[in-house]
Formats: sequence, structure tokens, C-alpha cells
Amino acid sequence: MRKTIFSLSIAVIPFLLVAPVLADEGNPAIIHRQGIYSAVGGHMKAIKSILLLEFDAAKDVTFHAQGIVDAFTHMGNSFPPGSDKGETKAKPEIWTDKDKFAQLGKNAFGAANDLLKAAQGGDKQITLAAFKKLGESCKSCHDDFKSK
Ligand code: HEC
Repeated sequence: MRKTIFSLSIAVIPFLLVAPVLADEGNPAIIHRQGIYSAVGGHMKAIKSILLLEFDAAKDVTFHAQGIVDAFTHMGNSFPPGSDKGETKAKPEIWTDKDKFAQLGKNAFGAANDLLKAAQGGDKQITLAAFKKLGESCKSCHDDFKSK
């Protein structure tokens, strides 16, 4: 009898430890898009450190710009219906004003490609201008479609 209780508790304890982690997982579509945007945000910070704060890694701007282009390419269907619920800053207008949201996404993708081309060209001023343009395209979507 005692042995049964013992082995039962062995079986239950790992479940209790794992359960809260699973409960916090939330909506995978939200986690997916936030993960991609975080990666994009990381690349933007790194580019800023090089172009504006003079960190000595000029050659890496191409890598970071490529990272942003790739990340945007792999957004996939990141805003499926129902992913307005949960731990998200996505505003409901994303699903009601789809055309405008898609257009702002395309603008940002175009600006990311322009930054990549500029970085490959190697001219710092042109690259800086393209970086600022991309930053504006992020902001124009966040202003309308991301809550603070
Ligand atoms: C077409 C619209 C759009 C564009 C363009 C866009 N974002 Fe966002 N971004 C969003 C939305 C919506 C969210 C909120 C996602 C959520 O919480 O579910 C977000 C969230 C984020 C986050 C927070 C991620 C997290 O972990 O919660 C970062 C960082 C971010 N964006 C950076 C950027 C950067 C940098 C760019 C430009 C290079 C950019 N975004 C371009 C719409 C956009």
C-alpha cells in the first residue's frame, strides 16, 4: 500500500511542475509573431549601434538587414482570425482594416530590401537614410495597429 502511494506521487509531481508552464503558453500565433518582431527589433538595435553610435562593425549591417528581410519573409500567416485574444498588443483594426495593414507590411518589406541594397553598396550616408526610412515604416504601422 505504502509503495503504491509513493509511486503515485512520483507520477504526479512532474505533472504539477510542468502544468503551470503549459498554462502560460497562450496562443501560438501570438508567440510566433512576437518572436519574429523581437528578432527584427534586435537587428534594428544592432544596426543603430553601428550607424549612429559608431560601433565598429560596419560590415555587419548587411547581415542585420538581411536578417530583417528574412524575418519579414517568414511572418507567414501571423495574424490569423482569433489571434486578437491573449497577451497581445495587436489592435482589433488589424482584422477590420486588413488592406491598410497589408499595405504597411509591404511598405516595411520594401524599405527593408532598400536597406539591404544600400548596405551592400557600402555608402554610409545612403545606408543611414535607408535605415531611417525603415524605422519610419515600423512606426507608421505601430502607430495605427499596435497598442502601447
Ligand atoms: C504591418 C505592421 C507592422 C510593421 C510594418 C512592423 N510592426 Fe512591429 N509589431 C506590429 C504589431 C501588430 C505588433 C504587436 C504584436 C503582438 O503583440 O501580437 C508588433 C510588435 C513589435 C515588437 C514587440 C514584440 C514582442 O515581443 O512583443 C517589436 C520589437 C517590433 N514590433 C518591432 C518592429 C520593427 C523594428 C519593425 C520595422 C523594422 C516593425 N516592428 C514593423 C506591427 C508591425
